[in-house]
Amino acid sequence: MMKKVFVIGMTAAVLMASTLAAATDVEDAIEYRQGVFNTIKWNFGPMAAMVKGKIDFDAAEFSRRADVVAVLAKLPREGFIEGSDVGETDARPEIWENKDDFDAGMDALAKNAAALADAAKSGDMDVIKPVFGELGKTCKGCHDDFRVED
Ligand code: HEC
Repeated sequence: MMKKVFVIGMTAAVLMASTLAAATDVEDAIEYRQGVFNTIKWNFGPMAAMVKGKIDFDAAEFSRRADVVAVLAKLPREGFIEGSDVGETDARPEIWENKDDFDAGMDALAKNAAALADAAKSGDMDVIKPVFGELGKTCKGCHDDFRVED
């Protein structure tokens, strides 16, 4: 009798531990991708302000931020793990229903961010502006399809 209770207790404990582990993975993945996106935004903001002429264009600073974003742009994808459409997230379930479309958006993000880093090396706003515009469209396009509206 005792033994049976013990076995059932152990089984329940193991099941609970694995459920908790899965929940933690999902929470970590959500925090990870949101952290990366917020770090992208932190660097994107001053670049947008320079493109719009709201602050003075500083070619060196722009280039540094574009380099940072080019690295960051490759990172969010791995945070979109299976089952992470629940919890404290604005990710829509469509991401996992149309994974190919979503991944194409992630590819475009990495590609267009790399293109901006290249353009920024010119130090020429006329070269930078259209490339920046493309990157901005990539953000918006994916958010329209795959992120919950604010
Ligand atoms: C391929 C799709 C895709 C692209 C491209 C994309 N995002 Fe996102 N973004 C998302 C999704 C999905 C979320 C919601 C993540 C979540 O809440 O788990 C998000 C969330 C965010 C957030 C909010 C993070 C938070 O704390 O909730 C910011 C800021 C953001 N993105 C900025 C950007 C910027 C800037 C770009 C372009 C340089 C960009 N994103 C490009 C899909 C994308």
